Amino acid sequence: MNLIKRKENVIDPERLPNHVGIIMDGNGRWAQKRGLPRYAGHAAGAKVFKTIAYYARDIGLKNLTVYAFSTENWQRPQEEVSRIMKVLEEFIDDALNTFEKEKVRIRFLGDLSVFTGVLREKMDRIVDATKKFSGLTLNIAMNYGGQNEIVHGAREAARRVLTGEMKPEDITPESFGKLLYFDDCDTVDLVIRPSGEKRLSNFLLWQSAYAEFWYSDILWPDFKPRDLDRAILDYQKRNRRFGRV
Ligand code: IPE
Ligand code: IPE
Ligand code: MG
Repeated sequence: MNLIKRKENVIDPERLPNHVGIIMDGNGRWAQKRGLPRYAGHAAGAKVFKTIAYYARDIGLKNLTVYAFSTENWQRPQEEVSRIMKVLEEFIDDALNTFEKEKVRIRFLGDLSVFTGVLREKMDRIVDATKKFSGLTLNIAMNYGGQNEIVHGAREAARRVLTGEMKPEDITPESFGKLLYFDDCDTVDLVIRPSGEKRLSNFLLWQSAYAEFWYSDILWPDFKPRDLDRAILDYQKRNRRFGRV
């Protein structure tokens, strides 16, 4: 037995991806495989979400964006949508009780205007309570669509041109990237998608221009910290050329 850990199988903390995105997919299939209703998969997926987010903090990641609910997911049955919202609310409740211990900065990425009432209040409270933390920033994409985000930026650019704050030629990839939902979230280095699907599904379209992809057949509720390790290790072995030689 080789007791010496091989260097190539250990994550290099100096070369972590600055921003990781995860498309948390496969909850429904996980439940169906067990003869359970789809919502049981969302409940199991939420637990894994919590484990992985705090693990990401422990290994020193600075930015993690998780795809929790897309602009397209409203087309699911009303009952399933309510269950997903409930599970998200439970995550926020838990975070409201534990944020001083966990020390993760939480934000929500997406068109948040649709969220009202108690859920919205809780979202605002957790964002406010955790804005002081500087370790991991966790962006939870809710009612998020990459195309909507780009349109949001385009409208803001148009508005600024109309008011004279900006000239059309001032709109560059750099300045435009700052007009997205967050002004500090314009690139993603590694996008992880479990569940076997090999598509972006409208996730971080602008930000993923030069992202590395990591796919796996694992369903999200089965995703383990070691799978995040695997994805990051794989990322660290890649040669990112950005068009150069
Ligand atoms: C991801 O799991 C969760 C959300 C989209 C909210 P799915 O519910 O899409 O699971 P599958 O893809 O049907 O297995
Ligand atoms: C993407 O998964 C959205 C989230 C994980 C929140 P979907 O399950 O909605 O994507 P498609 O429908 O397979 O493209
Ligand atoms: Mg899915």
